[in-house]
Amino acid sequence: MKPLLLCLLSALFSEASRASPRSTPVDRKLTGEALDYGRIGGDVRPRTREEERRLSWEIARRVVAPVKLKSGITLPLFQTWYGKDDLSRIMGQVLKTQGPLSIPSTLVAQKEIVQEAFRWNETSAALFRSWDPKAFEERRRLMLEDPTVASAINSEQRVLFSPKLAAHLIANYPSVIRCLREAGKIPSPHEDLEASENFSPCIGTEAPFGSVVVKARWVQDEGQVQKVPTDVDAVGSQVTGGTWIGSEKLHIPAGTAHGAKDPVTGKVKKLLALHIAVKETRDWVWITLWWAPDKNHFGEDKPQDFPGAWRNYEMCSVTGYKALPYEKRDSVRALAEAAIDRETQGDSWCSNPYIEVEPGNARSNCIGCHQHGGSEATDVSRHGRGKVRRNFPSDYLWSMNHGIEVGTMFRGWVENLGF
Ligand code: HEC
Repeated sequence: MKPLLLCLLSALFSEASRASPRSTPVDRKLTGEALDYGRIGGDVRPRTREEERRLSWEIARRVVAPVKLKSGITLPLFQTWYGKDDLSRIMGQVLKTQGPLSIPSTLVAQKEIVQEAFRWNETSAALFRSWDPKAFEERRRLMLEDPTVASAINSEQRVLFSPKLAAHLIANYPSVIRCLREAGKIPSPHEDLEASENFSPCIGTEAPFGSVVVKARWVQDEGQVQKVPTDVDAVGSQVTGGTWIGSEKLHIPAGTAHGAKDPVTGKVKKLLALHIAVKETRDWVWITLWWAPDKNHFGEDKPQDFPGAWRNYEMCSVTGYKALPYEKRDSVRALAEAAIDRETQGDSWCSNPYIEVEPGNARSNCIGCHQHGGSEATDVSRHGRGKVRRNFPSDYLWSMNHGIEVGTMFRGWVENLGF
């Protein structure tokens, strides 16, 4: 029988292979150096569900906060980050400068060469024959006038890596390729690496604290969105059924969602959902936001300073495999979420109705599926929520060998150079 997890994943892969990434050197020249996430730091591990939500809102606020770049353009922090296109250009430049390192070893690309390649990528647009300074200035002017035009940057990239994480992955490309080439290098699920300093040999070493990666789902304005009801009763029954079910079809009213306007066609895309994984703790904090302008349960505890259209999003999050207790067991939230808890039997729960759309995924919890990142997942328990591994080959990241396949891209570069 095909393992459950692989079934859940398969639809994602076919979607990924259709996506054509478009983030050009000109976009990067407009953005310049990506800005890093300011880690909260210290021991942030929450002890109660309320603390978990407060921490998650704070992290989400930092990730979506508008930042002003050197070029004068304003973007949400995560949209300054690196998608597969940037990573591919940077990887190529590292290899051209340094030559491929011996893949069977776990050598790391020199820090200075990696940094230089990032700097090169920020200005490389001007090296192309097609470089047109006038067109560049015109585009910059449009972006300064209208932040929605600026937000078109990176809106074609489903997955974006923060600078710290992007540099770590590039520097450790030999380890990434080694696990792709030799399945035997991927530790078996029960090999206990948690007690050691490194449970993620397939990306060299664990991602540095403060690393962030996001996965976005944008929708075209003219496309109708199948709205999924997310008041707590509706979520309770969808979790019981296991699969998200949309109800009415509607247009996203202007101004209620984070939007990105194509400067040529004037068409506006809307951000429907955003996954955020942050290495504030060793097993990451897993957060997801979805558009839901009608005031309801999963957004009501949002902090006052949540910026702009982001006020119209709801959120769920997990910081571990097990659900945390409530501070106030008889609070409205605790009573309302009891239905979800009954279904998840002490496991944590968090699922985005617009991204985790595969059958069965409404009762998942991010971390249970992501623990298999970098492996060939075969072992699932408790609807994929339970902890079954003692090591995490790619530090919980799936996109090295699935979806946008960053590792396959690294491998392609090295093999094309005849190594
Ligand atoms: C059933 C498995 C599954 C579940 C459940 C799941 N994901 Fe993922 N996730 C994936 C796969 C596969 C990819 C890579 C595919 C792609 O490029 O979209 C991915 C990609 C991501 C990425 C991009 C980085 C990376 O390489 O992993 C983030 C961030 C992410 N997911 C966050 C979340 C969050 C937050 C949740 C819970 C709300 C969640 N995921 C639930 C399977 C899952």
